[in-house]
This record gives sequence, structure tokens and C-alpha cells, in this order.
Amino acid sequence: MLNELYQKIRDAFTDRELVLGEGNERADIMLIGEAPGRTEVELGRPFVGKAGKNLDMFLAHIRLRREDIYITNCVKFRPTRISEWGSVANRPPTPEEILAQRDFLMEEINIIDPKVLVTLGGVPLKSVMNDMGASIGAFHGRPCTGKSGRTLFPLYHPASIIYKRELAATYEKDMDRLAEYISALG
Ligand code: URA
Repeated sequence: MLNELYQKIRDAFTDRELVLGEGNERADIMLIGEAPGRTEVELGRPFVGKAGKNLDMFLAHIRLRREDIYITNCVKFRPTRISEWGSVANRPPTPEEILAQRDFLMEEINIIDPKVLVTLGGVPLKSVMNDMGASIGAFHGRPCTGKSGRTLFPLYHPASIIYKRELAATYEKDMDRLAEYISALG
């Protein structure tokens, strides 16, 4: 079923280099990031660049291994812009890009059928909540239920603490809460 979905996504975005989800297809925990970056596109895998190092630290903190979970992004290609120096840089996905891939993400969630969705940052929160106004500042660090009835545990994006050092303590506390939440799930 997952392979059929991956093919549908490839057919819908034939002009893009895609990075699809990977990991344990029977996972209780599904991690949803924003979109792949340059290294992810080069290697064709989610969360393997600098964000992957953050992810490894994150997994160690909540005492899980990469093979225990399923990891994907809500946008499967790298959104780019040309920087002021003329190089190719990342940019956040637009609401149109998020919405254009939302049905695929929902299908992916239904196939994996995890007990909890851990969204990393504002973009996957908006996508899963189907609310482009949902703000990570209001939802982070505690479980909530999306319109679909799925349980979400929103976290800040691990990369955001690099740019906003003041978030680091909050992020640690949120991860501790998530670890407690997961161990209570059994
Ligand atoms: N790499 C990913 O695969 N997703 C992100 O959200 C950031 C980096």
C-alpha cells in the first residue's frame, strides 16, 4: 500500500526530485517534518543532513531508535529560492504547496496508522490540523487532537533552536514531556 502511494506521489510530481518517507511501517510513532533540504535530496532520504544530527539527538533524548519510528515530511520536494548571493537556498513551503500534498500525507498517516503523530515545526502542524493559521507557539509540548481525530504531539522544529537559542530550554522540556507521554502509551 505504501509503495502504491509513493508511486502516486511520483506520478503527481514528475518534474521534482522527491524524498519520500522511510522507517518502520508498523511504528507507533510517526515523525512529520517540513520538507527535505539539499542533503536529503542528494541522498534521497528524510532527515539525513544537519537536521538529521538534530533528529538523532532528539531520538536519544526520547529513548527511541530511528528504526522504531516512521519519518516523513509534509512536503516531499525541496522548496528553494535564489539567495541574494545567487546560490540556491531553502525556503519555507507556501500554503499552496502544503495543501497540494496534504491528501498524500493523510493517506500516508492512515497506512502507517501510528498511535501518535509528532509534528516538527509549524508547517506539518498546519498541514495535519488542516489549519493554515495554527501556530506552533500555541500547540507545542502537549498532545492534542486534530480534526481527523488523530493524536498529535507538536514540537518546535529542531532546526529552529539553532536560530532561536531562547527556545532550547522549552524544546528540552517539550521532549521530556513527549518521552513521558510515549512511555505511558506502552
Ligand atoms: N530535513 C527533512 O527531511 N525535513 C525537515 O523538516 C528538515 C530537514
